[in-house]
Amino acid sequence: MDIKSKIDIFEGFPKEGISFKDINSLIRDPEAFRFVIDEFYKIAKALDVNLVCIPEARGYIFGTPLAYLLNVGLVPVRKPGKLPGEVVAEEYDLEYGTNTVEIQKNAIKPGDRVVIIDDLLATGGTMKAAIDLVEKLGGEVCGALFLIELTELKGRENLKDYFVSSLVQYPV
Ligand code: PRP
Ligand code: MG
Repeated sequence: MDIKSKIDIFEGFPKEGISFKDINSLIRDPEAFRFVIDEFYKIAKALDVNLVCIPEARGYIFGTPLAYLLNVGLVPVRKPGKLPGEVVAEEYDLEYGTNTVEIQKNAIKPGDRVVIIDDLLATGGTMKAAIDLVEKLGGEVCGALFLIELTELKGRENLKDYFVSSLVQYPV
């Protein structure tokens, strides 16, 4: 399947100069959605993980059916203040300012094998923060999966110690 043909592009959203890749057009097409989940499943099956980690919000969309197919648990990485109990936090840089993400301390045990999945690899800041959280709790990050990679933003350089896979690539 030509996955790119299922992803609408909105020029100038959310601000001028950005060419926004809209996954909503893909996920509302049942054949395309099923196709990409099946592709993720083929890749993730070989990683032999026992957890799927999903950065809020768009990571949830792809990670949830993937965990179901792999028959493993789901671990959300969320924006601050959303998770009860003890959490660990990680701050990362944005173009302007910083962002923080959190994970529950009881979500991961030392030795857990984790794949992290998100819709988009841009700078890699979100994924690297999720990796750091998993590793702080003793988990092993076995792979970072993405639907879309914006290659000119060089997010892979942030993730060079990890197995990274993206289903489609655009320059920016
Ligand atoms: C977007 C996207 C990725 C991240 C990629 O999430 O869903 O998670 O940015 O960018 P990066 O590689 O430069 O970190 P966003 O924070 O916009 O929020 P959302 O998933 O809640 O929509
Ligand atoms: Mg996101």
